[in-house]
Amino acid sequence: MTEKLTAYGRLIVGTKEELFAKAVAIAVEQAKRVNSSRFSWALTGGSTPADWYRWCVKYQSIPELELRRADFTVSDERHVPLSSDQSNFGNADRLLLTPLGLAPSQRVPWPVELLPSDAATRYAADWATRFGRNRTYDICFLGMGDDAHTASWFPGSPLLKNEVSDLFVARDVAGKGWRLTLTPAGLRACGAVVVMTLGPTKAEALARVMQSEYNPVAFPAQILKTVADRAFWLVDEIAAARLK
Ligand code: 6PG
Repeated sequence: MTEKLTAYGRLIVGTKEELFAKAVAIAVEQAKRVNSSRFSWALTGGSTPADWYRWCVKYQSIPELELRRADFTVSDERHVPLSSDQSNFGNADRLLLTPLGLAPSQRVPWPVELLPSDAATRYAADWATRFGRNRTYDICFLGMGDDAHTASWFPGSPLLKNEVSDLFVARDVAGKGWRLTLTPAGLRACGAVVVMTLGPTKAEALARVMQSEYNPVAFPAQILKTVADRAFWLVDEIAAARLK
């Protein structure tokens, strides 16, 4: 595994298994740093997290001590029932939280049974009650799409054009449907941010994010630059292939 500092955070390149183990290690290290009885993990959607969940369960890689103080949510969600295979929290629940035996009180889904904007308002209020007004996630996992989208911020997203002070919002994304998501302000209120992006289809997007002029409206994952001091990019060799 290699590590180097970039303008977008720490870039860690390794095999899938090395990166999966590193993701857990970063979370555990961050949990030790946070002086609080509860530690929040925001998971995300996509095939990479799904593989990681299975790996975590297979190797029981998250220490029991950390699991006991962990609360799990997702940084972005689709407005679908948790039973849907499109639900990011539903998938995390089925593949990770249920197999690990997490208590219901440790599972914090977005209230998708409400209308989208009510769901975001309720989620924000409940989160503030649990963790305080200005604290979002102690560790936030993100993926990156082939078009460099992350956290349901797609190229051209109004959330990237006009800053909002809300930490969590609902947005109707053209052609994708409603998304419930953290905002860029919410991202800045995270403790650590881990982007896991693997496979050949990510190489072009990763090179554009890290090597083009800063323009997050075109390349949303460039927003990570605003949290570079606590961002980790877990990338396999093939996804890193176009980086200079
Ligand atoms: C979403 C997903 C999405 C995902 C990327 C990467 O809900 O739209 O969370 O943002 O993170 O598309 O997905 P892979 O892990 O499959 O590469």
